Amino acid sequence: MNGLGFAVSAGSGERVNLANYLLQGTKNKPRFDVLSMSGWNQGNFVLPTGEIIGDAKRNIFFNGSANLRGGFTPRGSLQGWNDGVCSLARNNPLVMVVMGLAFSGAILELIDAEEGIGMHLYTETSSGKTTCADVAASVWGHPKRLKKSWDATPISLTNSAQAANSMMMYTDEIGAGDTRRLGKVIYATINGQSRGRGLAGGGNEETKSWLNSLLSTGELGINQFITEAGEQVKGGQEIRMLDVPADGGLYRAFDCIHDYMGADVFAKELATQARRDCGNAGRAFVEWLINNQAQVKSWVTKTESRLLAELPSHAAPLVRRATRKFGIIAAALEMAGEAGATPFAQEEAFDATRAIWRRWLAVFGTESRDDNRLIDQANAILAANQMSPRFVLLANHEGDYVGEPVSVNMMGYKRIQADGDIFYILPHAFKDEIAKGFEPRKACKILHEAGMLERAKGHDGWTVVIARKKGRGYKMKLKPCKNPDETEL
Ligand SMILES: Nc1ncnc2c1ncn2[C@@H]1O[C@H](COP(=O)(O)OP(=O)(O)OP(=O)(O)O)[C@@H](O)[C@H]1O
Ligand SMILES: [Mg+2]
Repeated sequence: MNGLGFAVSAGSGERVNLANYLLQGTKNKPRFDVLSMSGWNQGNFVLPTGEIIGDAKRNIFFNGSANLRGGFTPRGSLQGWNDGVCSLARNNPLVMVVMGLAFSGAILELIDAEEGIGMHLYTETSSGKTTCADVAASVWGHPKRLKKSWDATPISLTNSAQAANSMMMYTDEIGAGDTRRLGKVIYATINGQSRGRGLAGGGNEETKSWLNSLLSTGELGINQFITEAGEQVKGGQEIRMLDVPADGGLYRAFDCIHDYMGADVFAKELATQARRDCGNAGRAFVEWLINNQAQVKSWVTKTESRLLAELPSHAAPLVRRATRKFGIIAAALEMAGEAGATPFAQEEAFDATRAIWRRWLAVFGTESRDDNRLIDQANAILAANQMSPRFVLLANHEGDYVGEPVSVNMMGYKRIQADGDIFYILPHAFKDEIAKGFEPRKACKILHEAGMLERAKGHDGWTVVIARKKGRGYKMKLKPCKNPDETEL
């Protein structure tokens, strides 16, 4: 209260008076709801600056962290942003898409999204990644002041995520963070929940949840970055942050530099303009959303379907899920145009998103990465051990010399064949090595579809009798080469 100008004396008499005043009933006194998280609140939108957009029928006092407020203060004008930043962004799909990502933060709650949308721009230095991200940040506030470092403590990142609730959180330069803890921090940040901590007086601190979009940049893709740190990226994790290459344009991050002398000059101008006019577009978009809430869900569904329709039917579920995220971004960018927050026409917004989605898809592929990881793991293990004594040779013909087990660490049996050796993997080796980290039955199905595991008749459907008195095993081959002349490991 002192900080807000209400002088409270330390004297015990004054404190008693204050307590008496507070206890004197609350009739006729204005009441305030104290909020510590920005974003949607009962139909209104609260900004970290304390501004409330909407027809608030009650007084709201924003109690969020003070040092996060400044970045959200608007500068210049919406017209200035439209004429400057948006004009330069035209014909630059990556710039437009990250703008869409910034707007998408505000619709996630309205469409009951289960998780936020993260996007990571990656490629070599001086390609325009930070410039694009600055433009996206200028939707909500000042790019430089909104920029956070991955190097920050988890608590500080949590606070930033809460302040950016229903908006976009911006973290530049992934390389700056501690690689070992980064994976967990990234996924916690985009997961929308802080971990509840035990309180000194017993019980647990309230877990806080948020729903926003997240934009980050770095020289390496986030999944590669985490893998290099020794962590295994799995399933849904790799689409929490969509790894988007930022060098797919004619001028790396950019496709059109308008009349500028070079991409470097263009990048500098874009960054300068994004600092001059900022923070107004997000507010205009929220005002439109308040008045048009009823059509947001159906708009998103329609745009998502347009993008999904372009996927091949065999696309993995994970790819469809990621495509839906691009659909939300596209819809947000389309709606922002309708709201007058940007000058972009609906088709222009959709086409820009589709162009970047295609660049993402070209790298990610349409298959499940988990399936490929299992196939690669199984094949690498077979290839590495195929000549080792871990495989005992089986006779092809009566009277052939048959090797005897020489290793205690036996993996199975091998039968040499002209069209590719056959390996009979013992059950423990299959579970602990070949399919390690995967659910065994699902792993069998995937390896079978990849042409590496024979489906047996009867019994459990997957193991066969190896030979007389040799028990059962998984009958496998190395991964078939697509091109027979190619040597593939
Ligand atoms: N597409 C581009 N082509 C040539 N030069 C560029 C391009 N984009 C940016 N630059 C130059 O690089 C400078 C830094 O731009 P920016 O911060 O956007 O790059 P970045 O990709 O984030 O680089 P870093 O990986 O070092 O962070 C700009 O001021 C500009 O001079
Ligand atoms: Mg950068």
